Amino acid sequence: MHNTQLDIITFSPTGGSACIANEVARGMEVSNIKTWNITKEIPTEQVCMGQGPVIVTAPVYGGRIPGIALERLQKFNGERTPAIVLVTYGNRDYEDALKELCDVLTQQGFVPLAAGAFIAEHSYSTQEMPIAQGRPDEADKETARRFGAQVITAWSKKEKNQYTPSEIQVKGNFPYKVKGAHTPQAPSIDQERCTLCGACLDVCPTHAISLIDDQNIFSDQALCIKCCACVKSCPEEARSFETPFRKYLFENFAVRKEPEFFL
Ligand SMILES: Cc1cc2nc3c(=O)[nH]c(=O)nc-3n(C[C@H](O)[C@H](O)[C@H](O)COP(=O)(O)O)c2cc1C
Ligand code: SF4
Ligand code: SF4
Repeated sequence: MHNTQLDIITFSPTGGSACIANEVARGMEVSNIKTWNITKEIPTEQVCMGQGPVIVTAPVYGGRIPGIALERLQKFNGERTPAIVLVTYGNRDYEDALKELCDVLTQQGFVPLAAGAFIAEHSYSTQEMPIAQGRPDEADKETARRFGAQVITAWSKKEKNQYTPSEIQVKGNFPYKVKGAHTPQAPSIDQERCTLCGACLDVCPTHAISLIDDQNIFSDQALCIKCCACVKSCPEEARSFETPFRKYLFENFAVRKEPEFFL
């Protein structure tokens, strides 16, 4: 057991990124873990990270980091704090996302010490058209724990003042891939199935869902980031998200990809 504090900062609407962060943390075997889950909320005050390592994790949206995750990460500053930078993607590609997250964290005072791209079930995956369904699976989790063990060994061998601003080179390009225009859309709802249980309201990272007059669920397309957390959490299967990308992803990205590391 390593006697240090480990912070985890995670944005993870459907839980894949958070799962990987937790497995890497398990592999690191540290005495204290504090988790900052910024999926729905952010700290009210600016947070200055200490000397212990920090895991930062977010999903890949369109080969980039979702804007809302970057916005929320602005609440955290490092003081040459070593960062383990992780992205999860739905078995298509992570393109410039890992580089973008490393660059942003560097600008905020962190030193990316290690990085990884993991695969998690695609937000658009369904039973009929599964895309990376069930991932991260046991093999992914085991890989994440092994990576964590390697990272803590590398970290414990270094003195803090030995860190250089660019400890690692990750895959990805700058200028980053251009983001597509925002096309307002939100999951549709089958009112007959909906029991107004409120589970979808609880998981929505952007507070796009509201209960109108105690009898209707409304989803604000302008706020929706299409994460599908509400679709996956609805116990009545009353929510669905229609997109032509599902069939394309299902047909073209069925071959299993494996995690990649930069250490
Ligand atoms: C709007 C949107 C865009 C996405 N873009 C990509 C992508 O470019 N490449 C990819 O492989 N997966 C993509 N995904 C899938 C997510 O990266 C994947 O489901 C991820 O594991 C979700 O992380 P989470 O479970 O932590 O929320 C996208 C998902 C959404 C909702
Ligand atoms: S989670 Fe499903 S059943 Fe519950 S309020 Fe939302 S749409 Fe209705
Ligand atoms: S309404 Fe949109 S942003 Fe909110 S949980 Fe559903 S898909 Fe995600």
